[in-house]
Amino acid sequence: MRLRSALFAVALAGLSATPALTPLYAQTPVAQTPPMGWNSWNYFAGKVDDKGIRAAADQIVATGMKDAGYVYVNIDDTWEGQRDAKGVIHSNEKFPDMKALADYVHSKGLKIGIYSGPGDKTCAGFPASLGHELQDATTYAEWGIDYLKYDLCSFRSDVMTKQAPEDKAAQMKLMTDAYEKMGKALAEATKATGRPIVFSLCQYGWDSPWEWAPALGGNLWRTTGDIQPRWQSIYDIASEQSGLESYAGPGHWNDPDMLEVGNGKLSLAENRTHFSWWAILAAPLLAGNDLPNMKPEIHAILTNKDVIAIDQDALGKQGKHAYSDGEVEVWTRELQGGALAIAVIDVGSDRVSTHPFHLDLARIGLAKEQTGKDLWTGKEIKLTQGMPVELPSHDVLLVRIEKPKSTHKM
Ligand code: GAL
Repeated sequence: MRLRSALFAVALAGLSATPALTPLYAQTPVAQTPPMGWNSWNYFAGKVDDKGIRAAADQIVATGMKDAGYVYVNIDDTWEGQRDAKGVIHSNEKFPDMKALADYVHSKGLKIGIYSGPGDKTCAGFPASLGHELQDATTYAEWGIDYLKYDLCSFRSDVMTKQAPEDKAAQMKLMTDAYEKMGKALAEATKATGRPIVFSLCQYGWDSPWEWAPALGGNLWRTTGDIQPRWQSIYDIASEQSGLESYAGPGHWNDPDMLEVGNGKLSLAENRTHFSWWAILAAPLLAGNDLPNMKPEIHAILTNKDVIAIDQDALGKQGKHAYSDGEVEVWTRELQGGALAIAVIDVGSDRVSTHPFHLDLARIGLAKEQTGKDLWTGKEIKLTQGMPVELPSHDVLLVRIEKPKSTHKM
């Protein structure tokens, strides 16, 4: 990965030859906080259709998720049909009328997203945008699309390894050019409609996209491979975010992938921790569960307004791993107005507990007594230096301290 970064610097030199222009992401005021919504892939994958998207939109409103901040209803892969004689992309039989669907989603006060990629084919083998970038961006704008997830998929084999088999720097340039092309196409296509399109880059965190995606118009970029509804996947992905904090901010976010809350066999504690962690990480909150069949306890997690407020904090500062002690990790996030979020997470398994965990406030620069709110019980909580925190395996204590007292003021 680091070698790739170094090689990419060579390619980037070409890109940044034009002096300091306003990055594309800063030219359109979208995604000022991490995008929130729902995406079809994690639960429905290839089964997504017009009916399912309408049902998701209905549920987002009916369940109060819309009021909690979920706005985007995103269609992932497998909507694509064929191109006509003029090269214009059409949706397949699962989506009889994309414009009518977008109108429906908009009529609910929500926004709609779509999916494509820079290659010839998407990951599921449907037509992608290679050679049709502006045409596709224009079609999306005409349909009323508000969000595009642009997935690398076949671009690597169709273009990068074909055109520059031995030349890593040239491959990088091809890839960044392809993303830049769509970033510009979206900006161009939306001039007429005045409806900005959030640009979500998906290339699995290869080649450090956080270093180059924002300047190419990316509002968010995947930092990892695909998430799975298993603790190990959530834990691995969260751990990989350490060190990426400085790349995120209003209009441009690290994307550790969509939520698996409510999917697979995640325990309630794991669902809670996953959601808390993504909030600390200022991650996009794109639910990916079966909304019409959502259980009340999953609904309660997804609509916890205090946790959402951490994610959506206007300062836009991604949280960080503060320290670990045994199997317990402490993460913190600085919030607007000097507030602070602290997540204490038991990442260990029930079968390998080590020693009892004692919270070391001094280690995170805090004075020995703090008062905050436990965001999962909703109750006031006092944190004291060295206090024992007992958590079941994979559970979390998430606390917001409005006015933290630092060690410096003691
Ligand atoms: C993957 C992507 C997933 C999903 C899938 C669709 O590359 O990471 O999130 O979009 O493609 O085929």
